[in-house]
Amino acid sequence: MCGIVGYVGPRPVQPLLIGGLRRLEYRGYDSAGMAILEEVGVEITRKAGRVADLESELEGRISNGTTGIGHTRWATHGAPNTTNAHPHADCAGSVAVVHNGIIENWADLKADLIEAGHLFRSETDTEVVAHLIEDRADLPLDEAVREAMRLAEGALALAVVRNDEPELIVGARRGSPLVIGLGDGENFLASDIPAFLEYTRRMAVLDDDRIVAVRPGGITISDLSGTIVEPVTREIEWDLDSAEKGGFPDFMLKEIFEQPKAIRDTLRGRLDSDGLVRLLELELDVEIARSFDKVFVVACGTSFHAAMMAKYAIERWTRLPVEIDIASEFRYRDPILDGNTLVVGISQSGETLDTLAAVRYARAQGAKLIAVTNVVDSAMAREADAVLYTRAGPEIGVAATKTFTTQLIAMQLLALWLAHARGSLDDAVIQNAVKAMFALPDQVEEVLRQSDGIREMSEQWTDRRDFFFLGRSAAFPVAMEGALKLKEIAYLRAEGYPAGEMKHGPIALIEEGVVVIGVATNSHVKGKMLSNMQEMRARSGTILLVLTEGDTEGEAVADEVIFVPWAPELLSPVTAVVPLQLLAYWLAKQRGLDVDKPRNLAKTVTVE
Ligand code: AGP
Repeated sequence: MCGIVGYVGPRPVQPLLIGGLRRLEYRGYDSAGMAILEEVGVEITRKAGRVADLESELEGRISNGTTGIGHTRWATHGAPNTTNAHPHADCAGSVAVVHNGIIENWADLKADLIEAGHLFRSETDTEVVAHLIEDRADLPLDEAVREAMRLAEGALALAVVRNDEPELIVGARRGSPLVIGLGDGENFLASDIPAFLEYTRRMAVLDDDRIVAVRPGGITISDLSGTIVEPVTREIEWDLDSAEKGGFPDFMLKEIFEQPKAIRDTLRGRLDSDGLVRLLELELDVEIARSFDKVFVVACGTSFHAAMMAKYAIERWTRLPVEIDIASEFRYRDPILDGNTLVVGISQSGETLDTLAAVRYARAQGAKLIAVTNVVDSAMAREADAVLYTRAGPEIGVAATKTFTTQLIAMQLLALWLAHARGSLDDAVIQNAVKAMFALPDQVEEVLRQSDGIREMSEQWTDRRDFFFLGRSAAFPVAMEGALKLKEIAYLRAEGYPAGEMKHGPIALIEEGVVVIGVATNSHVKGKMLSNMQEMRARSGTILLVLTEGDTEGEAVADEVIFVPWAPELLSPVTAVVPLQLLAYWLAKQRGLDVDKPRNLAKTVTVE
């Protein structure tokens, strides 16, 4: 997730781009940059860090240019430094490109371009587009971009300028967002509406596989074959605050709804032509993968719940023993580690001190470290022998939502990759698991459509203070995560517990007024789970069950049900956790709480 802004018109473009980038900073803040068409040609300024750092870099330089593009970066390929900051240029410096998304076949394209004599300056996938356009210097810019779009695979939103067409920006879109702001004698291009809302309320959406030529006097949209497409325009009714949140009242709800896209991005490009898992960036030798005799997964909070889930997947698929540890406990218990131990650290931020200290300790004992993180080049990514990025995009709400579901996916990809490398699973089993993963984004979308129903259901529980979240096997981490969400944003007492363990003590707490939420999706222990829920019902608890669609047996045990689509047991946590995120969200809202900034919490915890 990055932010793109572009402008053509009569105004000086530099302050306009800075303003737009500030409004898009929520989309990424690893670096920022801009390209302005000056009389001498394309002038590029870039800086690692936030938009404020770019502003300092520009200090004292006043541009008269009135056409330009800007970018704020959330790194996916290459470290978040100035060299990798956008815009990227071709060899001659006459083309400038900004990009949001992932070009899956960038490595192949880059190899061909290098062989043809192109000189690359960055580690990004984006730079290939600048060189592809350079190779088509004889074509009008929109034609050159169209050809580049035909060659590039994956998700892309592009904005491109070229020296010889000083009043033109060409935009292109596939998968990543791009909207056009329509002004009077001026026009805008951006990843999101807030970038231009100050100047115009009239907009056009660019559909997938469309190219747009943006000039001061108007726009021309065409498809990949060059056929002109009529733009569909509309008036924007949002104010600036709701526009920044995509029309959602808070970042948390926006991020819950971003999960289908986030999961698609996590999966993107991570399959080979045989339908097996390909983790190119892991750069871990297959021989090393075969040498492991034990795995530890360490993490905190929500990331620890992803670790719990990973234990089931890695053990079932690789038959390697897996230990999971709360990171703050790990190094104080003197764990047994050596050169044949794999340690996986999971951390959204990659900066959580407890997790960092745990993985540093493990490396010092000779263990190999894989980091699973959302932040490129974060401290944990730099510590690791190999990194797997979750690619959820920036998460602003303190409560982890989309980063959790993408951690679940990333860990399953890792487990399947390990299983293949070690020969512990037939290809057909891996292919089936992968196929089921690709169905998940649509399935999550189906669950999200129940948001209003979950809000209505939660309204009957606004005066309840005690909640239990129960699950067994792979549903147990989901129960833990549901309880954590409710605690941290709604400030309600919520226990996450393995359902079978309730009879050993906590069942004494079940009485009328206690809400017991059971996760009883597809599982080899679902029958036992339903029996445990009967026990809660017999003690007068109010029962809500998360069930697989069509489960009438489960429905008979519950006062309320939420159905989710069928998924294989180890993948069902991805769909099952979404209603629990929504439930916590709506209960917190009914209590009038600020879900994005819950009391006493910080997004990243850098103290021990
Ligand atoms: C989750 O909603 C919490 N905000 C918190 O538990 C978080 O998951 C934990 O602090 C770990 O953070 P990390 O993933 O960035 O390491």
